[in-house]
Amino acid sequence: MKQEARMAGTGAPEGGPRHVAIIMDGNGRWAQKRGRPRLFGHHAGARRVRDIVASCPDLGVKYLTIFAFSTENWKRTQTEVAGLMSLFRRYIMKEMQEFVREDVRVRFIGDRFRLEPGLRKLMEETEKMTAHCARLNLTIALNYGGRDEVARAMRLLARDVAAGRLDPEAVDEQTLPRYLDTRVLPDPDLVIRTSGEARISNFLLWQSAYAEYEFIDTLWPDFTPEIFARLLAQYGARDRRFGAVGA
Ligand code: IPE
Ligand code: IPE
Ligand code: MG
Repeated sequence: MKQEARMAGTGAPEGGPRHVAIIMDGNGRWAQKRGRPRLFGHHAGARRVRDIVASCPDLGVKYLTIFAFSTENWKRTQTEVAGLMSLFRRYIMKEMQEFVREDVRVRFIGDRFRLEPGLRKLMEETEKMTAHCARLNLTIALNYGGRDEVARAMRLLARDVAAGRLDPEAVDEQTLPRYLDTRVLPDPDLVIRTSGEARISNFLLWQSAYAEYEFIDTLWPDFTPEIFARLLAQYGARDRRFGAVGA
């Protein structure tokens, strides 16, 4: 199989995905199975993020994008939403220095202006502090929704048209991505969703047009670097044709 070849100097499979995006789902069910509150599952889930981030460089993953909170997740109870926001604050505070040490550049996507100012400030600080880092590009989707992102991008684009900075006749497939939150990122090659749900729940709608998908039953708090490595190897065996005829 193709993925047996290894990139020189690393354990990374050749032809593996450069950008992996993960829908980290199943924290609530993981906690429920243990008779614990949902937030217990979210805390366990946050701990798994650290192992997966750490495993990326050796696996040849240059970009990792993780879905932490969707624009639809505000529909949850006030207790769960507040608990999650407090978890994000604590997580960022705790990991900030670690990201710098590990040479991880952190970015956030989503509508940050709906988040509380304290959290927003931590997000901005982390982005600034890690702006020079280059070993891994970690993007955290927080208050992110694909449709919301496209709508915000359209608003910016419309402003440029109204101000005479953009000719409507020049708008094509390359124009919109320049207004998206992900403007500096490549499209994801592989999107993984844990917990057995086979849907994308408004994640990276525009960007995933040609992504490969893996839906696995494992609940996010049980996800390990070994499972991650197996999915990356499976990706190496896929034939991405992008509409053309295979070799
Ligand atoms: C994913 O786990 C994390 C967030 C959406 C914040 P869930 O909380 O959706 O867990 P399940 O799907 O209820 O098990
Ligand atoms: C998607 O999971 C959002 C995140 C993982 C942050 P959800 O659990 O919110 O998605 P649905 O409601 O099952 O579609
Ligand atoms: Mg869920």
